[in-house]
Amino acid sequence: MAEVPTIRWGIVATGMISSWFVEDLVLDRPDAPVKHIIQAIGSSALEKGQSFVSKYCPNSTPTIYASYEEVYNDPSVDIIYIGTPHAFHKRNCLDAIAAGKPVLCEKSFTINAAEAKEVFKAAADRNVYVHEAMWLRHRPLVHNLRKLLFEKKIIGDVFRSYIDFGMEVDIPSLPSTSRYKDLALGAGSLLDIGLYSLTWAMLTLDAGMPGNSEKPKVQASQTHLHGVEVTSSILLEYPSTGRHGIALSTTMGPGHPNCFGRVSGTGGYVELEGVQPSHPVSFTVFRKDENGEIPVKGETFDFPRVGRGFIYEADNTALDVLAGRKENALVPWSETIRVMELMDEIRRQGGTVYPVDRV
Ligand SMILES: NC(=O)c1ccc[n+]([C@@H]2O[C@H](COP(=O)([O-])OP(=O)(O)OC[C@H]3O[C@@H](n4cnc5c(N)ncnc54)[C@H](OP(=O)(O)O)[C@@H]3O)[C@@H](O)[C@H]2O)c1
Repeated sequence: MAEVPTIRWGIVATGMISSWFVEDLVLDRPDAPVKHIIQAIGSSALEKGQSFVSKYCPNSTPTIYASYEEVYNDPSVDIIYIGTPHAFHKRNCLDAIAAGKPVLCEKSFTINAAEAKEVFKAAADRNVYVHEAMWLRHRPLVHNLRKLLFEKKIIGDVFRSYIDFGMEVDIPSLPSTSRYKDLALGAGSLLDIGLYSLTWAMLTLDAGMPGNSEKPKVQASQTHLHGVEVTSSILLEYPSTGRHGIALSTTMGPGHPNCFGRVSGTGGYVELEGVQPSHPVSFTVFRKDENGEIPVKGETFDFPRVGRGFIYEADNTALDVLAGRKENALVPWSETIRVMELMDEIRRQGGTVYPVDRV
């Protein structure tokens, strides 16, 4: 068997998403194009790092640091993964970039577009790789769906897409330090989960993405509870085609248990299946028959999840870094900025302000 290249990850923060990501990195995958090594863990406390390693990568022996800085400066680390709350992403990215380290940073990439631009400017100045960890854009399901929608035109001309991300978070019962409650940490449904609805809407309405995409017009409304944005309803309209996207998010209650969205076309529709927009597992095509009557159920395209679904993003990131690229082709900097600008406008219309917006 041919040798595959190796990449050594430095993981920053030991919360939920870091654990999910690391679980996928250490999966035993004989067909993986890259060998992922957990080289170092950075945490606010040594004990947290130790407990993280014994739980999520017991067969690895990473260096555990009680700071993030030491991970950035470890010469054995090839790339940094950032899994802190959104409000720290800018600082963490800038620090990693200053140390010359490539970065894969969780979504929401930053709190606002101005912060994202600052990070990309620093990356451009230092000639360092940076990539927003919008894992959805790496999924084979998404690529197959877009091919069927825009190349094969399986449902004719797409004219509308509807995506709903709902989950129940009992915000009043959470401690004030929770990232779901603390505005200083970026609390709110839009940056946490609405971003997925928005991304799905754009992926299913815009054949040109990423990089050469059209900026849609946006109308939005948001509701707040105890000062935290808990429901966002967004209407996108693409000027050149008149296509509409309805992107919804709420932390007030769950969405549909298995169908999180529907893409409508002149010849039928596609149902998007999975418990949430962040966990798509299949889609089913409904097409009008030759009489142009009500669409009938056709083929279901299944994409069984490998691990938690982060492997595609992790492999693509590793291959980028090993090849010396500075951006990821599926999530270029321009696309991250475009989405951050849309979210800025949605928050402006919805009345959600974070402390850092005032700086
Ligand atoms: N891609 C996805 O599907 C997905 C899913 C969930 C979350 N996310 C994103 O990942 C990021 C983290 O979310 P999470 O759910 O993993 O959060 P979490 O469980 O609260 O973990 C965040 C970690 O960040 C570190 N941290 C540093 N300063 C902190 C502070 N002041 N308050 C809280 N934590 C602090 C802590 O690690 P140490 O103490 O070890 O330093 C903490 O464990 C968010 O930006 C979120 O949007 C992405």
